[in-house]
Amino acid sequence: MDRYKLLITGGAPLRGETTVFGGKNTSVAVVPAMLLCDEPCVVENLPDIEDIHVVYDMLNLLGAKVDYEPKARRMTVDPRPVNSFHVPYQYTQRMRASYYLWGALLGRCGQCEVGYPGGCAIGARPVDQHIRGLRQLGATVDIDHGYVRATAQRLKGAHIVTDMVTVTGTENLVMAAVLAEGETVIENAAREPEVVDLCDCLNAMGAHITGAGTPVISIEGVERLHGAEHTVIADRIEAGSFLVAGVVTQGDVLVTHCQPSQMEVVLDKLRATGAVLDIGADWVRVRMTGRPKPVSIRTVPHPGFPTDMQAQFMTLNCFAEGTANITETIFENRFMHVPELCRMGAHITIEGHTAIVEGVAQLTGTTIMATDLRASASLVIAALAAQGSSTVDRIYHLDRGYERMEEKLRALGADIVRIDV
Ligand code: EPZ
Repeated sequence: MDRYKLLITGGAPLRGETTVFGGKNTSVAVVPAMLLCDEPCVVENLPDIEDIHVVYDMLNLLGAKVDYEPKARRMTVDPRPVNSFHVPYQYTQRMRASYYLWGALLGRCGQCEVGYPGGCAIGARPVDQHIRGLRQLGATVDIDHGYVRATAQRLKGAHIVTDMVTVTGTENLVMAAVLAEGETVIENAAREPEVVDLCDCLNAMGAHITGAGTPVISIEGVERLHGAEHTVIADRIEAGSFLVAGVVTQGDVLVTHCQPSQMEVVLDKLRATGAVLDIGADWVRVRMTGRPKPVSIRTVPHPGFPTDMQAQFMTLNCFAEGTANITETIFENRFMHVPELCRMGAHITIEGHTAIVEGVAQLTGTTIMATDLRASASLVIAALAAQGSSTVDRIYHLDRGYERMEEKLRALGADIVRIDV
């Protein structure tokens, strides 16, 4: 796993154009959803990242006929040969979101036996809402020897109110409900664009879902789902990460093939730093001279400020002319980038769920360690603007969600190389 490091020499302003592809979080839901169909499906614009490779492996293991062309960003899934409902832990430990298979397999064949997902660096990541919702839909769900074993004759529609807004919980229950008998209503549903993208894909397959993007999603169960072709939405977090890098390095970066309408709060926060933003239908250009103004943020479910951009804005505030407060309300342990940034000279103190960031004129390069996906992006961005050279270890975290990030950054003028450890 720990085969590569990134060597970065900071100081170069990022200048130029980069593009983003399909989102990690939408792709790891849309691909498993294709198991619900009784015809082949095609998904386009997939990111060529580790998590997609894991989903590919799991679908093959289940017996689906999968043609995957990573460079073409296309996957064709024919679920008809699926002959198993068992996914061993050595697969599910590689990607937490493997729990999407619960809803997809229960909907498809009325049973699943899937390795229980572990927690991860940013928190315990419980899945009680997923399990409770599946039980409300009539499934028998047991956790036994590290596996989730669920069975159901045919799921039956239910009125589900989740205890909190859960993105993958909402998506998992939608997947389970599309072939259930009768109507399902999910209240307190997540409103993320990725939830809407999944529902759009399922509706293209013949599902009857309304209310996606609102707190109440209704699903009228149908007898079958036919094949479809779906292009996943752009990765709004990758786009945001590159825009933050443009601000922090005081550069001029154009991000294309993104969806600004899904990034409004992040773009507003970037404007508040004093950056100049030009925005088109599917592109955003950011220009920055001088140090950013501090911008305080509080992570909340969509359409509020996304927790997946918290670490990147923490880095931005490290360079700001002033003090900012960053409050993380979604995950209990999502400040692990803080000690690494402090080793670079950042002035950050943590009080409960809030980090107080006093901006400094310079950070200095050193050896830093990635701890989770978005933390690794924040450390790369810090190193790009720091004085001197940095080595970023454990970048397998980065590779889970960013496709060859160093190549894109190098094309923007960054001094960054990937080396074998
Ligand atoms: C999704 O995680 C994303 N992952 C996360 O992105 C993202 O940070 C998160 O949503 C919030 O936007 C994928 O889509 C694959 P939640 P998810 O359920 O669904 C609690 C990244 O970096 N909760 O919305 O797991 C949970 O502990 C990743 O791309 C329960 O208590 O997050 C958290 O406090 C990181 N019980 C809160 O709800 C449950 O059954 C929201 O989590 C489910 C969740």
